[in-house]
Amino acid sequence: MDIAITGPDPSVRELIAARPALSMHAQDGLLLEGVPLAAIADALGTPAWVYGAGTIRARLAHLRRVMSPTHIHYAVKANDHLAVLRLMAQGGAGADVVSEGEMRRAIAAGIAPGHIVFSGTGKTRAELEAALAAGIGQINAESAAEIDMIAAAAAVTGHAARVALRINPDVAAGTHDKISTGRAGDKFGIPWGEATEVYARAASLPGVEPVGLALHIGSQIVSTAPYRAAWGRMRELTLALRQAGHRVTRLDAGGGLGIAYRDEVTVSPEALVGALREALGDLEAETMIEPGRWLVAPAGVLLASVVLNKEDGAIVVIDAAMNDLARPAMYGAWHGIVPLDAAAATLPAAPRMVAGPICESSDIFARGRMLPPLAPNSRVAILDAGAYGAVMSSAYNARPLAPIAMVDGARWTAIRERQPIPALWAGETIPDFLSG
Ligand code: LLP
Repeated sequence: MDIAITGPDPSVRELIAARPALSMHAQDGLLLEGVPLAAIADALGTPAWVYGAGTIRARLAHLRRVMSPTHIHYAVKANDHLAVLRLMAQGGAGADVVSEGEMRRAIAAGIAPGHIVFSGTGKTRAELEAALAAGIGQINAESAAEIDMIAAAAAVTGHAARVALRINPDVAAGTHDKISTGRAGDKFGIPWGEATEVYARAASLPGVEPVGLALHIGSQIVSTAPYRAAWGRMRELTLALRQAGHRVTRLDAGGGLGIAYRDEVTVSPEALVGALREALGDLEAETMIEPGRWLVAPAGVLLASVVLNKEDGAIVVIDAAMNDLARPAMYGAWHGIVPLDAAAATLPAAPRMVAGPICESSDIFARGRMLPPLAPNSRVAILDAGAYGAVMSSAYNARPLAPIAMVDGARWTAIRERQPIPALWAGETIPDFLSG
């Protein structure tokens, strides 16, 4: 993502060809898993999200097959919709959560508490108690102070905590600065030089059972090198801890597996598992990973309609905005944009800016993007929006949260309605002292 974008953008045809979930039909236009997206846009209006259940199922099955016996804990933050979590439960994944809200979503969708790992730099006492009371499988502790809080929560609830120490391996993940998490000076994890001391402290506390180590170095990682470096440190530390007489039975190798948004060369699950086995395979520990993006990003699109054109079509204003999909505004992220109409998609392309209606100059989905003419009321799909899409939406500019549909086989259904406008201020009150 901060990796320089070079060469011409992939064409609409290339974008579709690289994505098994998408196809273009002469009459029905762009299809997601065989279902015409225009029909969904007609029924729900735009902006609207659409997720493909088949894609999520297939990607999870593939990852599980390749990674076995490594356990997969889906990082709920990538897409926390209950239906998505149900697919994860049905496909045999556990969950990686970072708040009580995510934990309760995962449990509500059918993921067993024992298959949930609780990560995060600032879990509160209340959250730790709720997690232990629910029977959480593992807590990934990120600081010495948190170990003491876990011990206190264990004493109050009467439930012992299985704890992995999240170490900071001081490795640059080679990704965007805002999603790098494993360098010294990042706020995440326990500096790896201090891990032995903290592990010993954890082992000495009643109600705390240190079970192993965890790490997560960043997101949208497209090379195995940072993984190898980080896992090498995890290996060294495991051996040192065992030397000191500690039990280390679980190694949580983190998430971060990237996808090709544009034409990036990515790390395949096969390559990932190769690196994992090489670094940790002979340690006789249970291994786990926490992928989010890789499982769900390619399964989702954001549908939008063209509101109007400016400057002879050099600027196309659509009805989706940065409040819906924040990634382009926040990280300069590149997302493919494809017209829903088959005939429109083949017209000669010219460089265009695709912008949202929000009053911020960063509310832009693409600049200088080679696209066919996009007439008012025509519709587009913004691709690879299944991860860090709807979960990061806000109601900025009093724009209601967009509806979500799920496609499965030949059917589709709405899985979230468009937020009604009055719901934007439900829960707000005008205080009495402002009356009159
Ligand atoms: N485990 C932990 C502890 C994490 O913090 C994360 C992501 C993951 C797993 C899953 O990482 P993934 O496999 O999805 O890369 N909003 C940003 C991404 C933020 C990722 C934060 N942590 C984006 O849109 O690119």
